Amino acid sequence: MKKFLAVLLAAVMICISFVACSSETKTDETGNDTQQATLTMATNAEFPPYEYKEGDKVVGIDAEIAQAIADELGMKLEIVDTKFDAIIPGVQSGKYDMGMAGMTVTPEREQSVSFSNSYATGIQSIIVKEGSDIKSVDDLSSETKIGVQLGTTGDIYASDDFGAEAVAQYDKGADAVQALIAGKVDCVIIDNEPAKAFVAANTGLTILETSYAEEDYAICFAKDNTELQTKVNDALKKLIDNGTVKTIVDKYISAE
Ligand code: ARG
Repeated sequence: MKKFLAVLLAAVMICISFVACSSETKTDETGNDTQQATLTMATNAEFPPYEYKEGDKVVGIDAEIAQAIADELGMKLEIVDTKFDAIIPGVQSGKYDMGMAGMTVTPEREQSVSFSNSYATGIQSIIVKEGSDIKSVDDLSSETKIGVQLGTTGDIYASDDFGAEAVAQYDKGADAVQALIAGKVDCVIIDNEPAKAFVAANTGLTILETSYAEEDYAICFAKDNTELQTKVNDALKKLIDNGTVKTIVDKYISAE
C-alpha cells in the first residue's frame, strides 16, 4: 500500500511539473507542441486612456488591442514601458518588436520606421486654465509659453509654428499639465483623449473648442520587419472587422 502511494505521488508530481512546464507551449493545428514566441511592445504608459499604469500593470486601449493581436498571432505579449522618445529608436534597433503608444503617423517618422494601418484617430487639443486669455488657436504666438510632452507631435508642431523658445518640453504629459496649474506655462498642447483625462483629474482647467491638428494612430515596426507588419495588419483588420477594436475603445472612451 505504501509503495502504491509512493508511485501515485510520483505520478502526480510528474503531472504537475508537466503542466507547469507546458503552460507556455501551445499545440498547433498539426498537433505539435510549439513554444509561444514573445511579441515585445514598447509604450509610454503616461497617456490615458491609451496606456497608463494600474499598479504595476500597463492598461488601456493600446494594451488591450495589442493583447488581442498577440492572441490572434498565437504570441505572448510583453509590454515595456519606456520614454516616448525612446520608442522609435528601440524599435529601429530591434530591441522591441513594435511600438504602440497612441503614436501618430507622420512623414518624418516614416523615414525611420514603418507603420501598421491606423486603428484610431487623435486630435491635438489645447488645454488652458479656466478664464485664460487664450480662447482659440489664433491666440497662440511665439510669446505664448506652451507645455508639451517631449517628442510628441504636439511638441513638433508647436516648435515648428511658434519656435522652440515658446515650447517647454516635459517627460510626461501630466507634468506639462502640472506646470500649467502652477502658472509656468500658458497652455498645454496634447492629444484630445489624454487632454480630457487630465482635465477631469484636475480642477480649473478646460479644453479649447478649436483643435490644433488631426492625426492617425498606428503601430510602428522596424523598416525591415515587413513580416510582422503584415501579420499585425491582418490581425488588426480582423479585429476591426469583427468589432473587437470598437468594443475595447468603447470600454475606455464614452461616446459624447
Ligand atoms: N500622438 C502623439 C504622438 O504621436 C502623442 C503620443 C504620446 N503617447 C504616449 N504614450 N505618451 O506624438
